[in-house]
Amino acid sequence: MDANEIRSAYLSLMQERGHALINRAPLVPKDDPTTLFTGSGMQPLLRYLLGAEHPDGNRLADSQTCLRSQDIEEVGDNRHTTFFEMLGNWSLGDYFKSEQIPLFWHFLTEVVGLDPNRIYVTVFSGDPEHGIPRDDESADIWTELFTKAGVSSDRVVLLTEEQGNEQGNQGARIAYYSDKNWWSRSGGPDTMPVGDPGGPDSEVFYYFPQVEHDTAFGKYPHQNSDGGQYMEIGNSVFMQYCKTDDGFALLPKQNVDYGGGLERIAAASIDSPDVYRISLLWPIVQKIEELSGVSYDDNTVAMRVIADHIRGAVFLAVDGVVPSNKEQGYVMRRLVRRAIRFAHQLGVQQNLLTELVPVVAGLYAEAYPEVADRRDVVIAVLEKEERAFRRTLGKGLRELKRLGKTGDTVNGDDLFKLYDTFGFPVELSTEEAVNRELPLTENWRAEFDAAIEVQRQRSQASTKLGAGTA
Ligand code: SER
Repeated sequence: MDANEIRSAYLSLMQERGHALINRAPLVPKDDPTTLFTGSGMQPLLRYLLGAEHPDGNRLADSQTCLRSQDIEEVGDNRHTTFFEMLGNWSLGDYFKSEQIPLFWHFLTEVVGLDPNRIYVTVFSGDPEHGIPRDDESADIWTELFTKAGVSSDRVVLLTEEQGNEQGNQGARIAYYSDKNWWSRSGGPDTMPVGDPGGPDSEVFYYFPQVEHDTAFGKYPHQNSDGGQYMEIGNSVFMQYCKTDDGFALLPKQNVDYGGGLERIAAASIDSPDVYRISLLWPIVQKIEELSGVSYDDNTVAMRVIADHIRGAVFLAVDGVVPSNKEQGYVMRRLVRRAIRFAHQLGVQQNLLTELVPVVAGLYAEAYPEVADRRDVVIAVLEKEERAFRRTLGKGLRELKRLGKTGDTVNGDDLFKLYDTFGFPVELSTEEAVNRELPLTENWRAEFDAAIEVQRQRSQASTKLGAGTA
């Protein structure tokens, strides 16, 4: 199954099982000043998880487009993307563990057709301090499912990630973890703010034996290791608690909040540990190969960055964001300019966006008709940004080269010049400096912020002067 087929099959299955299908929320959340972007499927549904009645009932499903800008610099490895789709289903006080876990298993093994022998899971080991029990119920349900499928399901208690790193999972299909298996939008039981919902979760991983475990992430591989062999593909959160002043109380409803990474499930379905090989990303990579005349195999990181960033920028433009110097617009600018920077390195000197946007739009035309509807606006917005940055990119790179020759430490004023005169987002300049082994002053960030502040005050003063003399 390709990724579009997986999305459709998931939504059909959910509909068959009595879920109302809801539309994706835009990438810029409405009425939520706490965050710039929709970063998970549950975010737009928060108030319903806290107890409000949803107009479409208590069984809901969707595929939610998400953007995690904090992952920008992780992009380049085999599985991180800033933009992704999260398949989601929710029970608002309706079904619970005994329906959710078998439903997800059925989807993975029978609908998508993943090999049950390659599936590994984790459950919550409990939090005695807050009176939250170990999730043996989920472990029992998983044991039964694995056993029925003829897969051995030994259990091991792994209380911490460190223990996993030191000992490995010793073949355990089902492993218990502590904080790693607690989900809230704001961290573990201790760090969550009062009023936030959270709960134990059960995560599912797909095992890629063809990947060599990266020991930088611990001596041994195990479900929760970032060493590369186990890729998380979905997560059922049993959202039953609310943080209170003196600990935790049960929410009025015992909810399920499931989120599965469409791109990662699609990668598992083609047995590729590299998500960029899936049907929603590979055509973008192929177009970059065609434009640059060089191969993905020799330029993997650059092509992953370009494919990911352009896809994210297209959806931001679809949802009405335009590149600017603040908030969502700034993140969009960073994505576009970083992609252009990498394309420049591959020898693509012009029209990256004009060439790539139609490819991205074509991939999503059916699933999200608004992408096709807004295609021309999206192209216009992104082309304009490319033209603006191309004008100064070469000069900015020469400035960086010059800084390298002086042998001086790059300071906040240098970074400000790159930003103000050459349009380099500061994160792009510091990344360049690191790649060129140029030393940065210890306080470059504060120096840069101070230079921005001086500029802001200057422009305010001149606006006032202008107003007074007009
Ligand atoms: N909220 C959970 C997650 O983001 C599941 O939807 O993983």
